[in-house]
Amino acid sequence: MATEGEVVCVTGGSGCIGSWLVRLLLDTVQISVKDESETKHLEALEGAETRLRLFQIDLVDYGSIVSALNGCVVVFHLASPSTIENNFWTPAIKGTINVLTAAKEAGVSRVVVTSSMLAMTTSANWRDDVVEAEDYWTDIEDCKKKGFWYPISKTLAEKAAWDFPKEKGLDVVVVNPGLVLGPVIPPRINGSMLLFGSLLQGRTEAPEDLFMGFVHFKDVALAHILVYENKSATGRLPKDTQPRLSKATLGSKRLRDLGLQFIPVEQIIKDAVESLKSRGFIS
Ligand SMILES: NC(=O)c1ccc[n+]([C@@H]2O[C@H](COP(=O)([O-])OP(=O)(O)OC[C@H]3O[C@@H](n4cnc5c(N)ncnc54)[C@H](OP(=O)(O)O)[C@@H]3O)[C@@H](O)[C@H]2O)c1
Repeated sequence: MATEGEVVCVTGGSGCIGSWLVRLLLDTVQISVKDESETKHLEALEGAETRLRLFQIDLVDYGSIVSALNGCVVVFHLASPSTIENNFWTPAIKGTINVLTAAKEAGVSRVVVTSSMLAMTTSANWRDDVVEAEDYWTDIEDCKKKGFWYPISKTLAEKAAWDFPKEKGLDVVVVNPGLVLGPVIPPRINGSMLLFGSLLQGRTEAPEDLFMGFVHFKDVALAHILVYENKSATGRLPKDTQPRLSKATLGSKRLRDLGLQFIPVEQIIKDAVESLKSRGFIS
């Protein structure tokens, strides 16, 4: 956890993963949100009254990001558009560059960027016998052919996050979660929970070459904190691997080595189902 008096910034703090991160971090936290009306659930968290500061940012508005990062020692960059239309991934890429530029200017010691397993694994050339992990990148051209715009957005944004420190110098580490599920804190349900809900409601069509392992909101939030606290954690840290449908634990090994004990999939599903029920999404 942040040392007493240290200020950290969470972009996308109003979102589903961001809210869990803020809940766990609520020692000294400065969060940025896009829409100030979406913060009541954060203001209701224990400790928020004295330790939470809210900033309204837009990923493509550099000035708004500079204000939010002022005085921070670490930035957790989660904010990213979730609905991506054809060729509309500029906010994700531009936002990542803006956040890293502002972090560099502010003298931030480490930036934890939230990418996705979809930046690693979306490819028609998957091999059943190979665990696709840190050195794998999504096939952009293949995604374009299939209209998979979100994996393209996450891949290009993550590549921008790796290019920045090479040119400008900055300590960047990336977390690549699978499909994140569990109890939803904000009033709005995110894309992964909507996808899971639609499967429970009988959706059967599944995009080809798109595989994701389940991971709990709490574990993803904890992973962000662990990689912030452990400077030895570098590179891309996958939060599950699911090459085809065979079991693989190599990808998450580095996080388990840092002490993360993943919540079992049965509990993830139970928590997600209860959350969707409590919101009236399923009965
Ligand atoms: N959920 C998953 O299964 C999953 C898996 C892998 C990676 N991720 C990544 O994890 C991060 C958080 O995802 P989530 O599931 O928590 O999604 P979410 O609930 O939709 O949260 C997204 C957050 O980003 C903010 N945001 C979006 N566009 C923005 C913009 N142009 N300027 C400023 N803020 C903006 C949103 O603010 P508004 O609500 O105001 O738009 C919200 O706070 C994202 O980077 C996502 O790609 C998610």
